[in-house]
Amino acid sequence: MLKKTFVLGSIFLFLLIELSCKKEEIIEDCTDCRTFIPASSQRTGDAEKGKNYLSYGDFVDSGIPSDLFNSTLGLFLGKDNSLQRTGINQDLNFAYTRFINKDGVDLIAPNCYQCHAGYVDGKFMIGLGNTFADFTGNQAAFAGILDQAVAARYGQNSKEMTAYAPFSRAVKVLGDKLSTQTVGSNSADKLALVLAAHRKQDDLTWQETPSFAIPQSVYPVDVPAWWLLKKKNAMFHTAEGRGDFARLMMASSLLTLQDTVKARSVDQNFKDVLAYLLTLTPPKYTGTIDQSLASTGKTLFLKNCAKCHGENEGPNSYPNFLVSQKEVGTDPSVIEFYKNNQAFTTWYNGSWFSKNPFGANLTPGDGYVAPPLDGIWASAPYFHNGSVPTLADILNSKNRPVYWQKANNPNNYDHQKMGLKYEVTTAKTDPYTFDTTIKGYSNQGHTYGDILNSNEKLAIIEYLKTL
Ligand code: HEC
Ligand code: HEC
Repeated sequence: MLKKTFVLGSIFLFLLIELSCKKEEIIEDCTDCRTFIPASSQRTGDAEKGKNYLSYGDFVDSGIPSDLFNSTLGLFLGKDNSLQRTGINQDLNFAYTRFINKDGVDLIAPNCYQCHAGYVDGKFMIGLGNTFADFTGNQAAFAGILDQAVAARYGQNSKEMTAYAPFSRAVKVLGDKLSTQTVGSNSADKLALVLAAHRKQDDLTWQETPSFAIPQSVYPVDVPAWWLLKKKNAMFHTAEGRGDFARLMMASSLLTLQDTVKARSVDQNFKDVLAYLLTLTPPKYTGTIDQSLASTGKTLFLKNCAKCHGENEGPNSYPNFLVSQKEVGTDPSVIEFYKNNQAFTTWYNGSWFSKNPFGANLTPGDGYVAPPLDGIWASAPYFHNGSVPTLADILNSKNRPVYWQKANNPNNYDHQKMGLKYEVTTAKTDPYTFDTTIKGYSNQGHTYGDILNSNEKLAIIEYLKTL
């Protein structure tokens, strides 16, 4: 009898070991699917100067003459001093900067905040991806009307026309090539491709005929929060931005710059811009946190999530992993975009931008960066394509809305599900409705939360509030 118990006991023990090995195997299922992204050396700079340059600088050095802007678009935008700027920029919408160019022309041009600042829960935040930036329209129609207005007001041969011309030609070639399906869906990757195609590789001067084919497709991306950059070894969702970060960021000035003389001066200032971005910290959660539930959530997070996202503090704070698309399973279109348009990365990697010292390169990966989750409560919607509106929906893949319409107001925070407030609809009827059935807009994949029960999900969400 004793013997039998012993035998059964050892079978039981054996089964237990077997089971626990299986379990380990499931948790560690994907060692090959995570690739470490190595760091590159970065220039140091002066953060205060960088902040100033971002708010007042002429890195986009052509735009709309200010009085024309103020009597048209400016009226529509209204007064806004979110950036607390002074002088001629006081009360100007945060997405634009006013400056006097080298010929004394008073101009207004778009700046980085158009995509990299916004409101969450009614609060303005520098570095937050702007979920209200609207790329659903056709830019070319707008440029046609503006051309006529500039000519009528200042004359075809005026210095205003000369100052405005580079902006106009860029907006015209961009045309409808940037149109996305939803307000907030950003097409900056395509923007960079189109601008590169219209520039000579070595001296960056404009060329009307593109040097490589521009694809029809536009895939949406969500704008990563700037406060994450200090933890990252590469920029962008597929970790394609390698080398000197300041050099990578200054590509925005390709919109209007004349040539590499201007590029060099912008580049000098961007080491300060980088220094400023590295000082940004994630915003503290504005609601209440149940600390004991959060601590349960932390244990669950360390067990289920930290192997990709890191432990958020301490020596394994952030491991810098690219996770293969095959593993994470989220929408593959952005990866395909880079695979199908290698002419763009080849252009970049042989261009002025790649030249040392401080060269950068584009090396798109076959997956997505598992991002740091600092301030994650604020940066909804989620995934690289912004297809999932809340953290609750991230953790429950079966419950993600197929069509979701976000409210068109900056007070649209949902403190229960943690993310954007939304209405579930049955079809896409307006630009505020995200349609996950469109190619590139899918909300598939990343099912890691599905094995958790509802209390465990709540605990993890509570923990995420503390980051
Ligand atoms: C038209 C919108 C737009 C403008 C303007 C813009 N960006 Fe971005 N930015 C994006 C998008 C979208 C991404 C993410 C692209 C991706 O990962 O595919 C991004 C990524 C970045 C990143 C990398 C973030 C990360 O964590 O990987 C940095 C840094 C950055 N931008 C800085 C800037 C600066 C500085 C400027 C102004 C000089 C600027 N951007 C202008 C849309 C924009
Ligand atoms: C196997 C690696 C892996 C595991 C495990 C994992 N994640 Fe992720 N996570 C990723 C990747 C990769 C992305 C980016 C996917 C994309 O953008 O398409 C991501 C994205 C996210 C996002 C959205 C981030 C943003 O800024 O949009 C959240 C939130 C998140 N994960 C939370 C979790 C939680 C919570 C767990 C544990 C239950 C978890 N993840 C487990 C790899 C992982």
